[in-house]
This record gives sequence, C-alpha cells and structure tokens, in this order.
Amino acid sequence: SEEDIAVPVGTTLDRFIMRKQEAFPYATGELSQLIRDIALASKIINREINRAGLINIAGMYGTQNIQGEEQQKLDVIADVRFIRALKNGGEVCAIISEEQDKIIDTGNRHGKYVVALDPLDGSSNIDVNVSIGSIFSVYRRVTPVGTVPNETDVLQSGRKQVAAGYVLYGSSTMLVYTTGHGVHGFTYDASLGEFFLSHTEIKIPEKGKIFSYNEGNYDDFSPAIQSYITDCKTRRYSGRYIGSLVADFHRNMLKGGIYLYPPTQKAPNGKLRLLYECYPLAMLIEQAGGMATDGKQPILDIVPTDLHQRTPLYIGSADMVRTVTQGLETEY
Ligand code: AHG
Ligand code: MN
Ligand code: MN
Ligand code: MN
Repeated sequence: SEEDIAVPVGTTLDRFIMRKQEAFPYATGELSQLIRDIALASKIINREINRAGLINIAGMYGTQNIQGEEQQKLDVIADVRFIRALKNGGEVCAIISEEQDKIIDTGNRHGKYVVALDPLDGSSNIDVNVSIGSIFSVYRRVTPVGTVPNETDVLQSGRKQVAAGYVLYGSSTMLVYTTGHGVHGFTYDASLGEFFLSHTEIKIPEKGKIFSYNEGNYDDFSPAIQSYITDCKTRRYSGRYIGSLVADFHRNMLKGGIYLYPPTQKAPNGKLRLLYECYPLAMLIEQAGGMATDGKQPILDIVPTDLHQRTPLYIGSADMVRTVTQGLETEY
C-alpha cells in the first residue's frame, strides 16, 4: 500500500509522485499531473515574490475583491498564474478562488477535478517582506465529465477533498500536501528549479506550547476564549502571530501549538474562508494527527452553502483544540 513505499528524503517531487503512484496502479495520473501544475505555478509565483521590491508589483492593484479587501498586485498575479497553470494542465474543469467572485470555467470539459484556491495568503505581509503562502484544495467534480461544471462541483463537504496543500514562501519555499495518505513536505531549490522531499509523514505533537491569535481582537472574544488565552499565559506558553495563516499553521504543525481566529465584531462568523483556507488546512491537520473545529464541530463536517463563506477556526495540536472546543461547548 501507499505507506509501504518508503521514499528517501531528497527525492524530487516528480519522482515522489511516480513512486507513490506505483501504489495505485489503477490511478490514471491525472491527480499527479494536477499537483505538478500547482508546483509549476508556485515556482513562477516564488520568483515574482522574490523580485517584488525590484519590479513594480508590490502594493495595491487598485481593485477590491468580493471579500471587500483591496487586492494587492501579487494577489492578482498569483491568481492569474494558478488559473493559467491549471487551465493549461488540462486536469481541472473549474476553480473557485478568493480573488474571483464566481467559479472559473477552465474550458477543460473532460477535467475530472476542481480546485479551491487562496492564491496568495497573508497579502498584508507582501510589502513588508514577511512570509506569505498559497493554499489549495482538490475535489473530484460531481457533474458528469464532458458537461459544463457548476457550483455543486465546488460546494462539497470538506471530507470529499482528494488532496489539500499549501506553498509557504518563507526563508525557504516549501510545498506541503496530502492526498489522504499522510502529509509530506518538499523544499524548493531554485538553482535546480526542483522541489525535494524534506519532511516525510509530518505529524503535529499532541500537545503544544505555542498559541497564535491576533491580540487586537481580544476584547471581542467570548469569555471561554479569553479564559483559554489567559490559561496559556499563566502556563507561560509562547505567543506567536505572523499574520499569514500559512506561516502560523506551518510553524504550529512542526512544533505543536494552536491557531485561533474566533468571531470578532468585524467578522461575526470569523474571518477565514471555509472553501480555500479552513477546509484544506483542516484536512492537512487531521492527516498530521491534529484537530480543527469551528468551536462546535470539526471543520471538515461543516456543510458548505456559499462559495466565500467564513467560519471561526481553532486548529492545531489535538489536546489544545479539544480544550478550547470543550470550553466553548460549556458556553452554548
Ligand atoms: P488573505 O491574505 O488570503 O486574505 O488571508 C489573510 C488571513 C490570514 O492569512 C491571516 O492569518 C489573517 O488573515 C490575518 O488576519 P488579521 O490581520 O485580522 O489578524
Ligand atoms: Mn485576501
Ligand atoms: Mn488567506
Ligand atoms: Mn489570499
């Protein structure tokens, strides 16, 4: 089975995909091609990000997205690059992106997959040279192959995801993804233009000593959240908040910890988006042995109704997320 094939660290992403593919001879390789297409887009975006200060692609694009956010130039560039790579790759029939009001029909009528995408996460950090990321989630389409895709193809339960992952454009650029058989991390070597396997079977520690949330929202939080945070401080845990969800998530997954984005006055349903931020990270964290809830239920059990719906998010070490969720349950 998948787990039996031990793949040595240092293997390229391509060779990793091929080796893992051997475990599924019936697989026809479309999902593998899709992952390669995402990796290609991330290499191009990585290069743009590294030059943002040098060529005029930092700053505002001058338009707003459906979220009511000022789009950054790199938001739009990343969106275009992913859509083009997935369109040209041929495997994806539809895309829902944070930066697009409606689903994008790629014209690949025979593509079996759809993708939910946060092309650039942590946009407020682009111009100040702090780590940012991209997040993706993959489903099999539900409409018949050969027909025009529609919203039912992307409004699927988080449990239906066939793959989920992110790219972290940090001190090194990493691609981390799962197809439901463990979480694997690849580190990019720009001099070779290749991702190399660097973290196999990532598992998050059951307990952690890092808590991550925007302190500025503290006064909006319910008593249960405020007392959880006070308890973390009493235990002298570390407060770490980068303001890029992908970066905060990745650190917690490797070291143990919890990321909280509770409801606030400004975002009564939470700020983070279900389809292309919370669902993919929830799949990853469960594959890594952690937990993700909205304060009442597992994120992956939320039934999606709107393309850009938001949800509160508590995600990370199982022991920490369980404690917060139980605390909130006593409140309702
Ligand atoms: P995006 O840049 O894709 O819109 O996401 C921003 C998100 C997430 O990256 C980050 O954790 C969070 O917004 C930060 O929100 P606050 O600035 O409200 O803390
Ligand atoms: Mn945004
Ligand atoms: Mn985001
Ligand atoms: Mn974004």
